[in-house]
Amino acid sequence: MDIRPDSPVQDPRTLSVPPASLRTERLVLRPFRADDLAPFAALNADPEVMRHFPETLSRAASDALVDRIMAHYDRHGFTFWAVEVPGTAPFVGMVGLLVTAFEAHFTPCVEVGWRLARPWWGRGYATEAARACLSFGFGTLGLAEIVALTRPDNRASRAVMERLGMARNPADDFDHPRLGPDHPMRRHVLYRLRAGDHRAGGHLSGGHLSGGHRAGGPAAGG
Ligand SMILES: CC(C)(COP(=O)(O)OP(=O)(O)OC[C@H]1O[C@@H](n2cnc3c(N)ncnc32)[C@H](O)[C@@H]1OP(=O)(O)O)[C@@H](O)C(=O)NCCC(=O)NCCS
Repeated sequence: MDIRPDSPVQDPRTLSVPPASLRTERLVLRPFRADDLAPFAALNADPEVMRHFPETLSRAASDALVDRIMAHYDRHGFTFWAVEVPGTAPFVGMVGLLVTAFEAHFTPCVEVGWRLARPWWGRGYATEAARACLSFGFGTLGLAEIVALTRPDNRASRAVMERLGMARNPADDFDHPRLGPDHPMRRHVLYRLRAGDHRAGGHLSGGHLSGGHRAGGPAAGG
């Protein structure tokens, strides 16, 4: 997951048309709100959550990431959603789709990504939310392929990719161009899923659009 400030940073509360929400059996994927910023910063400051990223994020860096997430929506019409467990937890992390922000042998492309706070690991939430994102990407957006990428030793993330039916070809492994030649996290694995394989796997029922959540978008949290 790598969203760079290559488009103007925008206050999420100023968006006139927030992204649609998605519902799954147990989750709501909705636009980020102002009251997500504190729990999102706590998640991004957790060294265990950020073990496979170059560094943990300060509160300012975490807030700036939310601004870039919303700017990505403004530019592309999709982005990361905040994930909510209705009746249980208003914010457990983020899952969504983004246009890969660097050049590599597999770009241009759209990737699916996830990051949950530790108490919410081990419940199937990342896979359930990502399944809805894939249905949205292949169905609503009409994408031909969605990829996912991570460090080779990020076993939990790779397991999500495999549960989603994504496939890795070792020939696709690559060195992340945003990390220097000696950076220990440079090596990455790539997983792909084509629209036809997604349909053949019967995953298209993973989630549905819910216009009813638009009214509670970024403006609601103040
Ligand atoms: C990657 C990450 C989201 C994966 O979380 P996760 O909890 O392992 O994945 P899921 O939410 O899909 O949950 C799957 C687990 O829940 C279990 N589970 C429990 N109840 C379940 C249920 N009702 N339905 C489905 N699975 C359930 C599954 O058996 C599985 O456990 P296992 O891995 O021991 O077999 C999490 O580790 C994370 O946020 N890591 C830090 C950020 C990160 O590295 N992101 C990826 C960058 S590329």
